[in-house]
Amino acid sequence: MTTIAVTGATGQLGHYVIEQLKQKVAANSIVALVRNPAKAAALGVTARQADYAQADALETALTGVNTLVLISSSEVGQRAQQHSNVIQAAKNTGVQHIIYTSLLHADTSPLSLAEEHRTTEAELKASGLTYTILRNGWYTENYLGSVGAALEHGALIGSAGQGRIASATREDFAAAIVAVATSTGHANATYELAGDSAWTLSDLATEVSKQSGKTVVYNNLPEAEYAKALAGFGLPEGLAQAIASWDVGASQGALFSDDKSLSKLIGRPTTPLATAVERALNA
Ligand SMILES: NC(=O)c1ccc[n+]([C@@H]2O[C@H](COP(=O)([O-])OP(=O)(O)OC[C@H]3O[C@@H](n4cnc5c(N)ncnc54)[C@H](OP(=O)(O)O)[C@@H]3O)[C@@H](O)[C@H]2O)c1
Repeated sequence: MTTIAVTGATGQLGHYVIEQLKQKVAANSIVALVRNPAKAAALGVTARQADYAQADALETALTGVNTLVLISSSEVGQRAQQHSNVIQAAKNTGVQHIIYTSLLHADTSPLSLAEEHRTTEAELKASGLTYTILRNGWYTENYLGSVGAALEHGALIGSAGQGRIASATREDFAAAIVAVATSTGHANATYELAGDSAWTLSDLATEVSKQSGKTVVYNNLPEAEYAKALAGFGLPEGLAQAIASWDVGASQGALFSDDKSLSKLIGRPTTPLATAVERALNA
């Protein structure tokens, strides 16, 4: 029996991956690799302790695993080393296939996040292991957290200008991971994954207005002003600056793709912006 292990299984994307994998393969062929097994109790699959920083423990956790879904770490700045630890442990334990969640256009992306993904992609390619790189675009959910504040103030703010964002939901990206993990034909492939339809932050404001009945406009701010506003909402300064810079990247097209690989892989259209907004307004 093929054992599929999933890192970051107690994270938001990981939850969807485990949930959808259970619909395709036997639960006893799935292993959740987690920092804190107590957090994994509700997943309904075996959980093994695996911190990206603990190389020896990773080898124990990967014993008997054939296919490894390596969900990129959320610890920005430490990720290249953490992913390297996982890849090395996978080599040492005989993992056959690694599926890695990278970033849309990772090879050319101007986003500060891209560098660590480039490093991991290069290491995977040099590892001799079979790999599949899923270059994920932005989660639609990244923007839905600000819908409440936008409604309160009648304005959505950002620095993305008229940049088009081909986002998809975490559920859509999870479905792609599951499709690759449970079917053949993806050896050493790199997929650019994005939503079927792209939208701008003005489109998001229009959609929120339409569905809520309350006027919300989009105010485009200079990068420094947007970062200052985010810091004013309580975000750590470094993160506020990073988010503002990613928006500027979006204004330059970094989050756009008209590649339809995501909907092809998952066998259905990606979740439309309107549906995601509806879910956020009803939440
Ligand atoms: N495409 C996008 O728009 C986008 C947006 C945000 C993030 N991302 C990337 O996609 C990944 C998955 O997204 P998400 O929404 O599921 O993020 P998330 O909810 O923050 O989950 C991140 C996962 O990484 C795990 N993790 C962090 N550090 C670890 C370590 N040292 N050892 C082992 N596990 C560790 C966390 O474990 P715990 O459960 O123990 O905390 C968590 O399960 C993120 O980690 C990030 O790399 C993409």
